[in-house]
Amino acid sequence: MPKYNFKKATISGAPLNNKGIGVFDSGVGGLTVVKELVRKMPSEKIIYLGDTAHTPYGSKTKETIIKFSRENIRFLITKNIKLVLIACNTASALALANVKKYFDIEIIGVIDAGAKAAVSVSKNGRIGVIGTIATIKSGAYPNAIKEYDKNIKVFVKATPLLVPLVEEGRLASPETKGILEKYLLYFKEKKIDTLVLGCTHYPLLKKNIMKILPKVKVIDSAIEIAKDTANFLEARGLGAVLYNKGESAFYVTDNPERFNKVGKTFLKKEMIPAKLVKF
Ligand code: DGL
Repeated sequence: MPKYNFKKATISGAPLNNKGIGVFDSGVGGLTVVKELVRKMPSEKIIYLGDTAHTPYGSKTKETIIKFSRENIRFLITKNIKLVLIACNTASALALANVKKYFDIEIIGVIDAGAKAAVSVSKNGRIGVIGTIATIKSGAYPNAIKEYDKNIKVFVKATPLLVPLVEEGRLASPETKGILEKYLLYFKEKKIDTLVLGCTHYPLLKKNIMKILPKVKVIDSAIEIAKDTANFLEARGLGAVLYNKGESAFYVTDNPERFNKVGKTFLKKEMIPAKLVKF
């Protein structure tokens, strides 16, 4: 597999500024990140890939997540992009380090942004993190948090039932409330003052979580990564200079109909219909 030559693209290709931001996720969840990217940077063109044929990533092994992530990036770099943003927390936790070495294009994940924000708001130095089984098992969030402050105590919990509940639209159902109460009890006992939502789907449950943990600051990693991406592009002079409205594109590896239907509830508006890709 030849490496994509990012530097060459800078010199011989069209100006990088108006290329797209390639975003991938295991499926529909990354649309929470797209929503915040569009809010923060309306001029940027987003090229999104949801790997719906292989979702969920949260119960898979590191090797498999790396393999899927590489395939996703190989596809995205054929779409005239200037940056890859891994919107999926699980893929960011398990594959970012590997794919950064493998591809010659800028690649960023979502873990660092959430970790940094949590450290900056925590007053008592006790931070909680919820995420998929694979994200929590990887230790990526505690490691990233401790990079900023090694004295912070980090408490983690895998909360695997939340992704299917969100995708089924059961945001305010009694089952969801009960499950959330059970999961979050651990953090009440640990007296955290900050909780990182370490999964693409959890921003949709933010209000419910805040009701259960009213004194805890809740970090929405989608919002944080949108801020970091804007700073990242600005620092490199890569922000879009033309208004790219309408040029964004969405791709999925299976069942675009379901993606479009569920995606509407994530974006809270009509979507540009996703196209099916096979690779
Ligand atoms: N997108 C995943 C994440 O943010 C959640 C869904 C999955 O398990 O694939 O971790």
